[in-house]
Order: sequence, then C-alpha cells, then structure tokens
Amino acid sequence: MTQTIEPRRPRRRPDGQRIKPLNRLIENDLIRKVSADEYRSKVKRVYGGPKGAFLTTCSMLSLHIPLGERIFRARKFDLRGARAVLDVGSGAGQIAGHVLKYSDPEATLTCTDLSHQMLRRARRRLAEKSRRPSRFVAADLAHLPFADGSFDCITCGYVLEHLPDPEPGLREMARVLEPGGRMFLLTTEDNFSGAWTSRLWYCRTYNRGELKRLCEKLGLEWSQEIWFTKMHKAMRAGGICVEIVRQ
Ligand SMILES: C[S@@+](CC[C@H](N)C(=O)[O-])C[C@H]1O[C@@H](n2cnc3c(N)ncnc32)[C@H](O)[C@@H]1O
Repeated sequence: MTQTIEPRRPRRRPDGQRIKPLNRLIENDLIRKVSADEYRSKVKRVYGGPKGAFLTTCSMLSLHIPLGERIFRARKFDLRGARAVLDVGSGAGQIAGHVLKYSDPEATLTCTDLSHQMLRRARRRLAEKSRRPSRFVAADLAHLPFADGSFDCITCGYVLEHLPDPEPGLREMARVLEPGGRMFLLTTEDNFSGAWTSRLWYCRTYNRGELKRLCEKLGLEWSQEIWFTKMHKAMRAGGICVEIVRQ
C-alpha cells in the first residue's frame, strides 16, 4: 500500500523571509504554490468578482477607512506640499479618497490597479466624493508604466502582500519616486490577524524587521512607523504602516 505524504510547509518564503510557525498553519499558501502569472490571474479574479465588490464594505467594517482617514487628518502622514501623488493598488479608492481630501487642491492624483474592475469602482467612488480629476491606469505594481522620478509621493495600502517577492515592486516604486520623495506604505504583518487576512485575501504577510532591511537595501528609508491608535501600537495590530523616504 502506498502512502502519500504531504510535503511539510516550508519555513521560509521563496524570497528567503522566515515564516513564523503560527503563520505556517493559518496563512493561505497559494502565493507560494503557483507561478507568478497564475497567482496574478487569481488576484484579478478575486478583486474583479463579488469579493472585490464588497471591498469598501469590508474596509468600513474592519475600520480601515475611518482609521486610515485619522492618519491623514492628524497629518501623521502629511500630504500637504505633495505635487504628484501615485496611489498604487487603489482598490475601491479607499486611500485615494483620503488623498483627495487631505492633499493640496493643485496636487495631481494617479490611481493604479491590476484589476480594471477595481479601477472602475475607484473611479465611481471618487467621483461621488470629489470633483478633482484623477488619472486611472491599469498596471502591475512590479511594472509601473511611468518614467523615473514621476511622483513626489506614493501611497500603497495592502497591495505589497500580493507579490510573491516584494523586491521588484519596491524597486519600481523607488524608481518612479523622485529622490527625497515620500511613500506611505501599509501592508499585512506576520501576526495572528495578518495570518487571517492572508486566508481571506489569498495574500502573504511580512516580517517587519525583514521588510525594513529590504527597503533600506533599496534606498527606501523608514522615517517613521505609524500606528492607527495607541491601542494598535500596544497590541502591535493593524499591520505594518510606515512613512518611507527615498534616498
Ligand atoms: C486590499 S485592496 C487595497 C485597496 C486600497 N489600497 C486600500 O488600502 O484599501 C488590494 C488591491 O491591490 C490590487 N493589486 C493586487 N496585486 C496587485 C499588483 N501586483 N499590482 C497592482 N495592484 C494589485 C488588487 O486588485 C486590489 O484592488
């Protein structure tokens, strides 16, 4: 009788990052199992479909929208003075909406997303919130169709976790950001709540120290770690949220 033995879940991701034992049990590991192209198609289907249609509702229920707004309203990440803002992986325009509200009126906003359907949702939602014109461009974070140094500010919320290897995505954002430009990066952390986020959205998680080291290797300096509230800071909850300056 032959017995099939399931391979043990690996201790490291393909990019070398460690996976904590609890995360090995809970996290969805599709991103490690299939090719980059297959995974990208899956992400497009997930966000283009009914789950994506409920993204705004999920962001309200998880308090991502109101707590995210607090960060910009309190100027923990100060959008004033930015001239050209790129919002990467705009989704339904959750962060882009805050950008329109808290940046200077003359600042331009470009929204990008892998999913055309999500871009349509973002366009509709932002048109209801603001009359300021925005540009919508379908693009993969790892291949941004913009010239070097095109932006002085980037916002990127809960997108990097959809890359099997973060380096090409971080490199692209560093490339299109001008030297001295600032980035607001928010991504899923390798803790208990992050592991469940991974289950729900088929994404990976990041170890804070390892992500910081990678950013610094790419000339993206973490100038401050940002927390939604004091409680989030005490509980190390809410994900990795940082202001980054391009060297
Ligand atoms: C969880 S939503 C985030 C929406 C918004 N930024 C926020 O903070 O709420 C993730 C979005 O990233 C997009 N996305 C996933 N992988 C991407 C990639 N490789 N390049 C660009 N966008 C991507 C998805 O289509 C989805 O709209």
